[in-house]
Amino acid sequence: MSTELQELLDSNKTWAAETESRQPGFFTRLLKQQSPQYLWIGCADSRVPANELVNLLPGELFVHRNVANVVVHSDLNCLSVMQFAVDSLKVKHIIVVGHSNCGGVKAALLDARTGLVDNWLRHVQDVRNHHAEWLDSLAPEQRVNALCELNVLEQARNACQTTVVQDAWARGQEIVVHGWVYGLHNGLLEDLRITVAAPEQLSQAFQRALSSVKQRYQAARLSSTT
Ligand code: CO
Repeated sequence: MSTELQELLDSNKTWAAETESRQPGFFTRLLKQQSPQYLWIGCADSRVPANELVNLLPGELFVHRNVANVVVHSDLNCLSVMQFAVDSLKVKHIIVVGHSNCGGVKAALLDARTGLVDNWLRHVQDVRNHHAEWLDSLAPEQRVNALCELNVLEQARNACQTTVVQDAWARGQEIVVHGWVYGLHNGLLEDLRITVAAPEQLSQAFQRALSSVKQRYQAARLSSTT
């Protein structure tokens, strides 16, 4: 086994040279400042690389990733990222991004025992338990992706309810929270349309997005059984 990871270091050299030749001065400009418009909160899954999916360059997307794109009010890591992004970088958008067939969501759904991460995934199990009756009404093969989408809505709502976002809205700072889901099978991002730009929009935006997710899965369920 290689202990040097030379391939990665070599390909980094090539990438840096190509980037610089396409846009001379690229790195020295970034050295002076970063001014991303977006904070991406996504899953740690290696198949969901934030910048690549939306074709953004270094400096254009501030990123926080964890298993199953969870936003918890006691997670200092995520909250610190959010605070820096909102208060210092002044991002205009926070996008919570889940993805289909998420291993973390699947483990949470099925009560799989994996290790330490089970404790983290308790937050996704809260989402599952909250919507258990509806999830049970779906075909078993629909449930993982349905929970992936419910989880995006719940975590986007959590993001809206953090002190960071609440305080930003209270002082009149423009910030919009979104919830998206990425299809591993087709490479496409879908907007789940929980789009919240002010605290008073949250409840209605959440309910509307939730109804639309539920309708879509119920329609798929009916068309597969008829
Ligand atoms: Co995942």
